[in-house]
Amino acid sequence: MNRKPHHLASDAPDTPAVSGRTGPGLPLLVPGSRCVVLAPMEDVSDSPFRQMCREQGADVVYTEFISSEAIIRDSDASKHKMAFEESERPLGIQIFGGREEAMHGAAKIAEANNPDLVDINFGCPVYKVVKKNAGSACLRDIGMMERMAGTVVDATSLPVTVKTRLGWDDKTIRIREVALMLQSVGVKALTVHARTRSQGYKGEARWEYFKYLKDTPGLHIPVIANGDITTPEHARHLFEESGVDGVMIGRAAIGNPWIFRDIHHYLDTGELLPAPTIEERMQMCARQLQASVAHHGERYGVIMMKKHYGNYIKGIRNGKYLRMEIMEKEQMEDILELLLNFREEPETRIAV
Ligand SMILES: Cc1cc2nc3c(=O)[nH]c(=O)nc-3n(C[C@H](O)[C@H](O)[C@H](O)COP(=O)(O)O)c2cc1C
Repeated sequence: MNRKPHHLASDAPDTPAVSGRTGPGLPLLVPGSRCVVLAPMEDVSDSPFRQMCREQGADVVYTEFISSEAIIRDSDASKHKMAFEESERPLGIQIFGGREEAMHGAAKIAEANNPDLVDINFGCPVYKVVKKNAGSACLRDIGMMERMAGTVVDATSLPVTVKTRLGWDDKTIRIREVALMLQSVGVKALTVHARTRSQGYKGEARWEYFKYLKDTPGLHIPVIANGDITTPEHARHLFEESGVDGVMIGRAAIGNPWIFRDIHHYLDTGELLPAPTIEERMQMCARQLQASVAHHGERYGVIMMKKHYGNYIKGIRNGKYLRMEIMEKEQMEDILELLLNFREEPETRIAV
C-alpha cells in the first residue's frame, strides 16, 4: 500500500464533478460527494472542537459516542454530550449500546435534540463496551447488528449512519455482507475504520479493503474511509484509487483543524497549502479554549483542552516549556495570556 504522496497517471479518469459540499442536502449522504468528515472521538470531539473543525471546512461532524443506557436514563452527562451549536451543522449524534430497547429509546431522544443524523457505533473495541454486546461486539453476530440497526432506523425519521470496523478479527472480515445488510435495513451511509477489532489501533489501517468494499455488487450507499488518513495526499489517494465517497479524519485533526481546509484545497487545486503560522496556531488554540470554557464551564473547559495543547504546540521550539506551564494553570485567562504572548525562541546558531 502506497502511503507516499500519490501522483495520478496522465490517463487517469477525471474526478466526478459532483460536489455534495456545495449542493443541497447532506454531503455525507450524496454518493461521490468527496466529503471530509470529523470522526467521533471520546472526550475530544466536543462542541468547541467541532466548531473549529466546521469552520475550517469539515463537511460533517459527529459527537463522541454516547451510551444509549445513559441517554434513556436522562443523565446530565449524556444531555451535555448531545448539546451543540447551530454552526456545527451538519452534525450527527453517535449512540452505542447492546440492548435493542435502549437503542430504540436513545435514537428517539437523540432525534428530539434535532441533529442532522443519528449514527450507530458498531466499532468500539474497548472491553467494557464489548462485554455489554455494544460497539464492535456486533461484528461477531451480524444478526444482532441487523436487529440493532433496524430498531434505530425504525425509531427515527432522521437518516441513520453506521460506523464500524472491517470485522472482529482476520477470520471474520465480512464487511461486504455487513454493508449490504445495513443498506437493506435502511442505513444511509457507512463509515469503515479499516482495522479489525482484534487489531485495536495496531498496525496500519488496511486501505485495500475500501476498493474491495466499493466494488461490492449492489452496494450504493456512500462509503466513508477511515483510519490513518493524515494528509491531503492520503485523502486524494483514497478518492482516486478506492473510489470512496468520503474520508473521515480523527487523530490528525486534533490540534490541527486546518486539515479539513488543506484537504479540500488540495482536492480542488492540487496545491498544498502552507502550514499555519505559530501565531495562527496559538490563536486557534486560544479560541478553542474560550469556546471550551463557554461550553463546559471554567474548570471542565480547561481540563478538556488538555488533550489538544500537545498537537497545537507540536514542533515549536521551546513549545515544551509552554505546554508544561499551561498544564499547571487552572484559569482560562492565565492560559490565554501564555498562548497569546508566546514567541518562539530564535534558532540557536553555532558560531564558527
Ligand atoms: C481518543 C479517541 C476517542 C475515540 N472515540 C470514538 C468514539 O467515541 N466513537 C467512534 O466511533 N470512534 C471513536 N474513536 C475512533 C475514531 O473515530 C477513528 O475511527 C480512529 O481514531 C481511526 O481514525 P484516525 O486514524 O483518523 O484517528 C476514537 C479514537 C480516539 C483516538
